[in-house]
Amino acid sequence: MPRTLANAPIMVLNGPNLNLLGRRQPEIYGSDTLADVEALCAKAAAVHGGSVDFRQSNHEGELVDWIHEARQNHVGIVINPAAYSHTSVAILDALKACDGLPVVEVHISNIHQREEFRHHSYVSLRADGVIAGCGVQGYAFAVERVAALAEPGVATV
Ligand code: DQA
Repeated sequence: MPRTLANAPIMVLNGPNLNLLGRRQPEIYGSDTLADVEALCAKAAAVHGGSVDFRQSNHEGELVDWIHEARQNHVGIVINPAAYSHTSVAILDALKACDGLPVVEVHISNIHQREEFRHHSYVSLRADGVIAGCGVQGYAFAVERVAALAEPGVATV
């Protein structure tokens, strides 16, 4: 059976330190918590009759395992790889193994205005789209985009 928004969730993955969202460098990342972001994503998916499977890990291998899971069971992936964006060939390779699966990368901050080492993302080499600098609202945009890629014709704003 083909995967659709109605029968498979969107995997929303969050990398290291995002469990501290709201308390960690609020001048950069804002005051919303990861629970707030989960609610935002669920609402954005529900508009299209979809749902999210929202997870966070501080461990690279766990994120790789979850991408493998999404490859089998999910309709697309929204990922904020956090610091692993700039270092992880393993996460890039896992995403590259997800043939045809919509992948949108999100960064809360504008990584291009920050330190040089944040300007490059390995994940961007596979992502179908990249959103940066829109705050946590970027997650809603990313969910919206994955929904549109997963089901062409889905109503977008
Ligand atoms: C981040 C940007 C990364 O450079 C950083 O390591 C993070 C969060 C963002 O959402 O802006 O942890 O991905």
